[in-house]
Amino acid sequence: MNPHSAEVNYTSQKTERSLVVLKPDAVLRRQIGVNVLKALKKLPGASILAFKEFDLPEELAKQLYAEHEGKIFYPSLIEMMTSPIGVIAIAMEGPGIVSSIRDLLGPTFVERAKTVKGCLRGKYGIVKGVNVAYASDSTADGSRNIDLFVTESKLVIDKAPAAKALDSYIAKWDGKFPDNTKSMQKEAFDVLEALDDVKAVLQTENRDASEEDVRSLLKIILDSLLN
Ligand code: CDP
Ligand code: MG
Repeated sequence: MNPHSAEVNYTSQKTERSLVVLKPDAVLRRQIGVNVLKALKKLPGASILAFKEFDLPEELAKQLYAEHEGKIFYPSLIEMMTSPIGVIAIAMEGPGIVSSIRDLLGPTFVERAKTVKGCLRGKYGIVKGVNVAYASDSTADGSRNIDLFVTESKLVIDKAPAAKALDSYIAKWDGKFPDNTKSMQKEAFDVLEALDDVKAVLQTENRDASEEDVRSLLKIILDSLLN
């Protein structure tokens, strides 16, 4: 065998760590969370290091997403991640696990992910960035994310109990509730279209209004619809 190919193979198979955080859309919808957990478990050579369901503190959400601070979607991202629904953090280890998890999830936006066959965000995400899970995007990120959760949220790295906790979660919820993702995606898309219409109308009512002001009024309307 060519010694170089053995070397390449070895490095590409290096054991890595990754943090996955099931977002509230995959925690409230139990069957979705279960399907994602089953898919993660099936990744070649994957082992579960830690498993924890909890409410993500705001500080921790901000640290996890520090790179996005200041972007327009950042406040709603933090709001989503700190929802009282909670999240599930899963620390994983395995050869090439960082990219295999990212590939399994697929593109960030659900609409884009729906064009990639079989990826979890396309199959189970609801709309736009409501996309099932966070996953570390580099090996350095993986180690850093896990250390952060161990320090800040007392995530415990202990393989046997973690694998058991994940299996118990699957056993508890599998088959108890339906997966209605297809209709959810359609309903959410209709809302998105309706919002675009409302936005366009608002813009005709004051051509000087900033994008930020229009978004602000849209949010007021949406909040009042929910109240
Ligand atoms: O999650 P991923 O690493 O694929 O994407 P990101 O660019 O790091 O963004 C982090 C998260 O912010 C996404 O998963 C979305 O939930 C959210 N996001 C959003 O809502 N709108 C955007 N324009 C970009 C990201
Ligand atoms: Mg990211």
